[in-house]
Amino acid sequence: MAFPLTIVLLISLSIFISCLHASDPPLTLDYYASTCPNVFDIVKKEMECEVLEDPRNAALVVRLHFHDCFVQGCDGSVLLDDTVTLRGEKKASTSVNSLKGFDIMDRIKNKVESECPGIVSCADILTIAARDAVILVGGPYWDVPVGRKDSKTASLELANANLPAAEEGLLSIISKFLYQGLSVTDVVALSGAHTIGMARCANFRARIYGDFEATSVKTPESETYLSNLRSMCPAALGGDNKESAMDYVTPNLFDNSYYHILLNGEGLLNSDQELYSSALGIQTKELVIKYAHDPLAFFEQFAYSMVKLGNITNLDSFVNGEVRQNCRFVNT
Ligand code: HEM
Ligand SMILES: *[C@@H]1O[C@H](CO)[C@@H](O)[C@H](O)[C@H]1NC(C)=O
Repeated sequence: MAFPLTIVLLISLSIFISCLHASDPPLTLDYYASTCPNVFDIVKKEMECEVLEDPRNAALVVRLHFHDCFVQGCDGSVLLDDTVTLRGEKKASTSVNSLKGFDIMDRIKNKVESECPGIVSCADILTIAARDAVILVGGPYWDVPVGRKDSKTASLELANANLPAAEEGLLSIISKFLYQGLSVTDVVALSGAHTIGMARCANFRARIYGDFEATSVKTPESETYLSNLRSMCPAALGGDNKESAMDYVTPNLFDNSYYHILLNGEGLLNSDQELYSSALGIQTKELVIKYAHDPLAFFEQFAYSMVKLGNITNLDSFVNGEVRQNCRFVNT
């Protein structure tokens, strides 16, 4: 009974949302062509250094972009520090002690400012940097539409409300993506970003002492993987911040290995494994199988879905927004 009702709600929600976005000013590829023609090269060069120093940095930037776009649209709100007059998003439940890479953004912004002061928004720099991050660890290329403005506000409430969590159910996660104008296909493709980066014990404890054994293939490799996870992440308290790669096969490579892990029932996060194992996820399961078997289809969809993610904007930041001088603070 509850299930069809949820679907009806999800569908009407998505129609409502696509209208909200219809009037947004379009982004373009050549927005900075005359004002800062080298911006793409500057960001790329800095990201090359960052990822060469530590491939994890690619994951940090991609996640930052995701957390930016799901709260007030992609407007750099995630980058704002708390001040006496502004409450930022960094303390949101899914981000505190977890979201990183702000120093990377500072370094890229400094490079861009020294060549084109006051021209390129932090939101655009983050969007471009996320694309370059993906390429640098072996993922697909896509053109990045630009022209975003930086917000003068942030929203801790929206960050807490909009961002999905590891222990959240599949339908709830899907509804959060539909609310942003994204689709079920976008959920599955964008989750493929977990082919890079790490998660903390606090976010996978319930999973490894919960249904991991039930979903996973019972190979010796899988047993070893689980016992390693359990020894780094004890069932009782402790070790909350210990980290493990979400793709333990090729942790620093952007490939479709994440989907193979889900086929084996070894997804690290509950939210990852549900895409394949949930009884409610008929469509998501088919997509997981498709991307596991067709890496090119995954790359194409990921690139397309990342542009859609980057297209989430809000009228307010276009009208009232600015180009921040320092990504951490609203201009004075
Ligand atoms: C579908 C719902 C999603 C959920 C529930 C989710 C949840 C999480 C969680 C719990 C972590 C680990 C954080 C920690 O333990 O500190 C994480 C990491 C990460 N997420 Fe997601 N995520 C989702 C979607 C996405 C999307 C759409 C992207 C980007 C397109 C993304 C990119 C990343 C990356 C790259 C990391 C690794 C960051 C690092 O290495 O520090 N995630 N995610
Ligand atoms: C993203 O926005 C641009 C500019 O508004 C538009 O041309 C493009 O079709 C959009 N792409 C997607 C995948 O939504």
